[in-house]
Amino acid sequence: MKYHIVTYGCQMNVHESEKIAGILRAKGYEEESAIGDADIIVFNTCCIRENAENHAFGNIGALKKLKRQKRGLLIAVGGCMAQEEGKAALLREKFSFVDIVFGTHNLSELGELIERKRAGGRGAVISLLPERLRTEEGIEPIRTSYPNAWVNINYGCNNFCTYCIVPYVRGRERSRRAEDVLSEVGSLVREGYREITLLGQNVNSYNSDGAGGMDFPALLERAASFPGKYRLRFMTSHPKDFSAELCRVMKRNEKICNLLHLPAQSGSDRILSLMNRRYTREKYLENLQMLREEIPGCAVTTDLIVGFPTETEEDFEQTLSLVREADFATAFTFVYSPRTGTRAAEMEGRIPDEVSRERIMRLIALVNENARRASARFLGGETEILCEDFDQKKGLYLGRNEEGRMGYFASDRNRIGEFLRLKVDRISGVSLFGEIAD
Ligand code: SAH
Ligand code: SF4
Ligand code: F3S
Repeated sequence: MKYHIVTYGCQMNVHESEKIAGILRAKGYEEESAIGDADIIVFNTCCIRENAENHAFGNIGALKKLKRQKRGLLIAVGGCMAQEEGKAALLREKFSFVDIVFGTHNLSELGELIERKRAGGRGAVISLLPERLRTEEGIEPIRTSYPNAWVNINYGCNNFCTYCIVPYVRGRERSRRAEDVLSEVGSLVREGYREITLLGQNVNSYNSDGAGGMDFPALLERAASFPGKYRLRFMTSHPKDFSAELCRVMKRNEKICNLLHLPAQSGSDRILSLMNRRYTREKYLENLQMLREEIPGCAVTTDLIVGFPTETEEDFEQTLSLVREADFATAFTFVYSPRTGTRAAEMEGRIPDEVSRERIMRLIALVNENARRASARFLGGETEILCEDFDQKKGLYLGRNEEGRMGYFASDRNRIGEFLRLKVDRISGVSLFGEIAD
């Protein structure tokens, strides 16, 4: 029996797919890379923007024929879209061939749901929990991203940014116990993982529910204290909770990468307030200044949204000027997508698509210009990369440096999992190319 998992969305989902794989493996399934040859296909979905949903719907719909041809094939849909209000009913109505629907709060139940479906009965087995108080522990993931490993620290979100659906589909903030997080990090380091990323929708509010036992800077520092060479990353930080203590911890622990992902969303105070982000442009820039005073040259990346309701050309120019001032190493840019049930979806002043598209093109051009400039700083120098893969097309190994820049090099032997010094002699786009210094 073989499984195939299709994953959409953020790192949280990527890691949860590793847990789904763990559950399926425990049930005796083996991984299958060709979707057509699998006995169970699991879609781990995302609903952050409309196109993420359309994508999943399209690909699930495309399986109708396969399902008819292949008796016994099971199709399961889980993740954020499955959890979204009304979506399970819509799936049942549109895709009656879907066998199992599960949500974000009951991943560990998947094995039982498979049994229930196999036991017979028509129609889909649908199981969704409205909320979860404690974190799900004890699911052994099948990790697929060596030398990198993901570790959850907190789940859910309490922030209710007005555009965002995450608090509705992921529930309230729940922190894992620090000792569970740390024992997982320690084992991964001992097993030879070289880069560990601590994951949460808002890592800075770790322990807001008191369940963790210590705050985020303390947890991060301990996670950076295991013997051996490895890197530590974390995401995502919310600017409203960014602290001087976090800067100090980053500074004094060499294993913590000099990279901060700090989503700004907009450069306009008026829009930030409508978004319920609870910081101003000035406060955001102060955070960056504090960080760079502690750690000169620390790379900062961000997320930006254009076309939020009522965004004027002036507001948008504030975002452009923030990008110029903040000197982001890179930025992820999105066109605002109204999500049913969120406050922004009820707001007046929708921005026409063509205006949003024109704005995002201008924003991307500026972001790329900055990103290329940030890459160019590495030209002619050496930078340490962790080799993580082989690029078949380029015929080169690749890795990333602490700041997240991709570096490519040739090697006649497998270097995956090694820390290497790359002598950068060429930049293409934002990627670094060069030779390994021995
Ligand atoms: N918890 C993280 C990220 C959540 S989603 C944080 O708070 O930073 C990742 C990014 O998607 C967000 O930072 C935001 O830029 C974008 N996003 C979220 N909802 C969106 C929407 N409705 N339309 C467009 N972009 C959205
Ligand atoms: Fe969404 Fe805001 Fe929570 Fe991030 S902090 S997940 S953007 S509500
Ligand atoms: Fe998408 Fe859910 Fe992540 S909505 S971005 S997969 S938390």
